[in-house]
Amino acid sequence: MKFSINGLISIMFIASVAMFSGCMGGAGESVSTTTPQESTEVVAKAAEQSVAAEPVAVPEPESVAQSTPAEEESIFEPNLRLDKEMFHPPFEWGDCTVCHTNSDPEGSGDHATILDTPDLCYQCHDKDAKEGKKFIHGPVAAGACTACHNPHKSPNKRLLVASNINQLCTMCHQAKGDFLHETANIHPPVKDQCTNCHDPHTEDYKFQLRADGKKDLCVMCHVDKKERIENSKYKHGAIDRPNGCQECHDPHGTGQPRMLKADSVMDMCLKCHNQTLTTDEDGYKLLNIKKHLDENPDWHGPIQWGDCAMCHNPHGSDNLRMLKKPFPKSFYSNFDENNYICFECHDSQKIMAEQTVEDTNFRNGTSNMHYVHVNKKKGRTCRACHDFHGTKDYPHHLRKKTQFGKISFPIRYIETPTGGSCAPACHARRYYDRENPVVNTK
Ligand code: HEC
Ligand code: HEC
Ligand code: HEC
Ligand code: HEC
Ligand code: HEC
Ligand code: HEC
Ligand code: HEC
Ligand code: HEC
Ligand code: HEC
Ligand code: HEC
Ligand code: HEC
Repeated sequence: MKFSINGLISIMFIASVAMFSGCMGGAGESVSTTTPQESTEVVAKAAEQSVAAEPVAVPEPESVAQSTPAEEESIFEPNLRLDKEMFHPPFEWGDCTVCHTNSDPEGSGDHATILDTPDLCYQCHDKDAKEGKKFIHGPVAAGACTACHNPHKSPNKRLLVASNINQLCTMCHQAKGDFLHETANIHPPVKDQCTNCHDPHTEDYKFQLRADGKKDLCVMCHVDKKERIENSKYKHGAIDRPNGCQECHDPHGTGQPRMLKADSVMDMCLKCHNQTLTTDEDGYKLLNIKKHLDENPDWHGPIQWGDCAMCHNPHGSDNLRMLKKPFPKSFYSNFDENNYICFECHDSQKIMAEQTVEDTNFRNGTSNMHYVHVNKKKGRTCRACHDFHGTKDYPHHLRKKTQFGKISFPIRYIETPTGGSCAPACHARRYYDRENPVVNTK
């Protein structure tokens, strides 16, 4: 965690008006190492500097025009501001000795308290609620309650020393404050308030998160994703890796859309798909896509755009290979228009029109060769001839070799200006020509 000088200055500033209670053990040091003794010293020093100040966190705009809090004020909406100042009940009761050794701390100038914080506060507040869980926030562990709360009164909810949660947190977490201002695509709940996920005092999960931050926290809000990752027929092994959702997403933001931890969806995918992975469902050895794309530079459109997620759902799906829409599983399939993800982008007439002069170039005169091959009972699926990721040897994403069961054979495609021919194992070389239809005898 980074602490900047600016952060400290702004804390000191707020502290001097709101009474600083030893939140920082020293510049750049972790507060949690501050002993109560040290913290009292800091408190004393801070108090010296602030005798005259009213314990109010709102600076007059004119007098502090250059200061960080005033700027922050304009960036963060003051949504914790109350209509009128709120008094902490024991302060309002008027018996100052509940907390102070002197019954007139104001007049006497003796501000000593009967106990140090946090014990002072735990006279009335439940200690367990503030530090009873596994992980305790640094300043809470250090007893620096008054770094965030004014013990007397405040114009903000919960006696807070800032009028917005994110302003409060970024007083100390300056690096996160800079990040909020500089980064595009911040995760909406982060922009809203840090406490959507972090408890300001104590929690059972690391970083005082409200649930395990790798996955459980995410699906608390993203219920649809919980449903998907648990119930999809084809699940994505990525999500079962140790970092869960964070394998691909940063919880706060990265500057990339969807808070992705890579410059594009494709770069994200290829971080893992740069090797032969094995599916959980059927033990099938998946193509090393990175190697395949490196060796086959004629990439299919959506891959040129860097977006594998146009076809695959990274969170899993009920379709083969987590495709967003169905695609037949095998070499042959009874043709059904609804079974082809391809028609999300390509016109289905390409396969549906028996005769055509425009729907496809794969025709012999007006006879649609796509129709002939694909559109029938036990028709060939697109994979018989095309590769959906990248190719090299032939145009139109025609693959060099086709996989038929366990054997693979070359299709030996030759293109001509008005048609082409191929000679796979299925049949002898056959020709198609758009202008002068060919009669294939073999
Ligand atoms: C809930 C506990 C609590 C009560 C009640 C309380 N104080 Fe305080 N007060 C504090 C704490 C904590 C500090 C900070 C101590 C420090 O900085 O060493 C403080 C500091 C002060 C200071 C010096 C810092 C400043 O600039 O304000 C004054 C003056 C003061 N209190 C006045 C009063 C008066 C007057 C009352 C009664 C009307 C009162 N307090 C009641 C907790 C309390
Ligand atoms: C003498 C008892 C007493 C002491 C000591 C005390 N409080 Fe309180 N505090 C109360 C009462 C009563 C309330 C109002 C009821 C409630 O919200 O629990 C309250 C409320 C609060 C609230 C919530 C205000 C809201 O908007 O709900 C905060 C924050 C708080 N106290 C912080 C502190 C801190 C920090 C200290 C130590 C510096 C402290 N209190 C010491 C009695 C005390
Ligand atoms: C890092 C800032 C921070 C520190 C340090 C801190 N609090 Fe809080 N506290 C908050 C925030 C933010 C809230 C409001 C939480 C909400 O409403 O969701 C809050 C709420 C409270 C409340 C009222 C609501 C509740 O949860 O009961 C009390 C009482 C309270 N704090 C007491 C304390 C005491 C006592 C300490 C010191 C042991 C302390 N706080 C230290 C930030 C802090
Ligand atoms: C008064 C200064 C201060 C304020 C205000 C503050 N923090 Fe902290 N925070 C710290 C310190 C100090 C640590 C401990 C750093 C360490 O141990 O390295 C810490 C630790 C954390 C951590 C754990 C970081 C880690 O690397 O372990 C998180 C998460 C966090 N704070 C979130 C928040 C949130 C959310 C808020 C606003 C509700 C907030 N903080 C307000 C001082 C502050
Ligand atoms: C959507 C939930 C969420 C919100 C909202 C959120 N965080 Fe976090 N934060 C996380 C998760 C999850 C981690 C743990 C990251 C990890 O496992 O490495 C984390 C870690 C941290 C850490 C420690 C690691 C680091 O990144 O430095 C700090 C500090 C922190 N958050 C501060 C903040 C602050 C300040 C805010 C508000 C501006 C905030 N967080 C808002 C989810 C959130
Ligand atoms: C393998 C990488 C990867 C993992 C792991 C992953 N995601 Fe995603 N996520 C993506 C990509 C890529 C997108 C963009 C998808 C798109 O454009 O269709 C995305 C989009 C999202 C979106 C916004 C768009 C939408 O589909 O709603 C949310 C919300 C989301 N992911 C949540 C999660 C959650 C929650 C987890 C953990 C259960 C998780 N993701 C795990 C890669 C991943
Ligand atoms: C407190 C609720 C909450 C939590 C917790 C939460 N999110 Fe979100 N998330 C939202 C909201 C609200 C949006 C914006 C609406 C939407 O896209 O669903 C969002 C949007 C997203 C997006 C899309 C952002 C974009 O650029 O469109 C992704 C990706 C995402 N969340 C991932 C995660 C991951 C990963 C986690 C866990 C580390 C997580 N969320 C935890 C509430 C939450
Ligand atoms: C963190 C590593 C990781 C990342 C990042 C990743 N994957 Fe995977 N992926 C795996 C693992 C491991 C498997 C094999 C286990 C399984 O899901 O069956 C897999 C399997 C697959 C499968 C086959 C699923 C099946 O069940 O047949 C597809 C398709 C796939 N990933 C696409 C993608 C896409 C698209 C992206 C980018 C959005 C991506 N992967 C990002 C790790 C990852
Ligand atoms: C145009 C849609 C489309 C795009 C874009 C796409 N894929 Fe695929 N992908 C498919 C189809 C269809 C299959 C099923 C292939 C088959 O079974 O013959 C598949 C299969 C896979 C497989 C399993 C391969 C195997 O061994 O059978 C992986 C892994 C995969 N894709 C990852 C990716 C990655 C990574 C990207 C981005 C670089 C990506 N896909 C982009 C359509 C697409
Ligand atoms: C997300 C949109 C999208 C999806 C889905 C899609 N494609 Fe494409 N396809 C394109 C784009 C864009 C082009 C043009 C760029 C290029 O040549 O790759 C293209 C081009 C092609 C070409 C080469 C055209 C030529 O003349 O060079 C073939 C063949 C092809 N796609 C087959 C398929 C098959 C088979 C599927 C289904 C598995 C499919 N496409 C799914 C967008 C898509
Ligand atoms: C028997 C092999 C074969 C099958 C099966 C096949 N195609 Fe083609 N496809 C071709 C040939 C050959 C071309 C090149 C035609 C030309 O330009 O001369 C082609 C061209 C294309 C084109 C480029 C535009 C065009 O039509 O001229 C697209 C897009 C396309 N095919 C999509 C598909 C889709 C989607 C499927 C599955 C539904 C599929 N193909 C099945 C052989 C096939």
